[in-house]
Amino acid sequence: MKFFIDTANLTEIKEAYDLGVLDGVTTNPSLMAKEGISGDEKVKNHYKAICDIVDGNVSAEVIATDFDEIVREGKELAKIDDKIVVKVPMIKEGIKAIKYFSSEGIRTNCTLVFSAGQAILAAKAGASYLSPFIGRLDDISFDGLDLIGQIVHIYQNYGFETEVLAASIRHTMHLVKCAELGADVVTCPLKVITGLLNHPLTDKGLAQFLADHAKANS
Ligand code: E4P
Repeated sequence: MKFFIDTANLTEIKEAYDLGVLDGVTTNPSLMAKEGISGDEKVKNHYKAICDIVDGNVSAEVIATDFDEIVREGKELAKIDDKIVVKVPMIKEGIKAIKYFSSEGIRTNCTLVFSAGQAILAAKAGASYLSPFIGRLDDISFDGLDLIGQIVHIYQNYGFETEVLAASIRHTMHLVKCAELGADVVTCPLKVITGLLNHPLTDKGLAQFLADHAKANS
């Protein structure tokens, strides 16, 4: 299972990278705005700065919503670095663009996916990654994890090569359940990745080991 971090914050990306378990980064326009990144040049420089930190894919999202503009913007983004994956929304024009990018050898991440039907369409169009949003489904009382299981099953039935990139992950159990269900990738905030470290028995056990060692060596 691959771990991507879902942020445009360079400090957090560096911290996750330094942990030695990071396989890539996903961003979106809201995350870029949160870091105060705006304007074509600044956006491109920021993506480049992210690519310079990580070994692995960096998803950069298009803003355009019509085919020609998605293609133009996606090509510009792909030129920034070999690590860039063009993130395209799950809309009609987006599916057409994913098909086009796939024929041109440009990798894509189909985003804002909320149903198995959308997942089938994206795979048929040749998306490299598919991003179903678990947390946002949970927010409206649908089970986001059920969708992950359903998509993994469908993709296995037909040998689709599109990787299931579970997104909108809010807590560590989302991540662990995605691993059980066979998601290829999870993208999550830093606190979810570091949250995997926590267990009170680890803390208690370590404190005891250190205390016993100190006593024996005093
Ligand atoms: C995925 O690529 C998105 O950037 C992200 O996971 C959305 O998460 P949110 O629902 O917590 O905003």
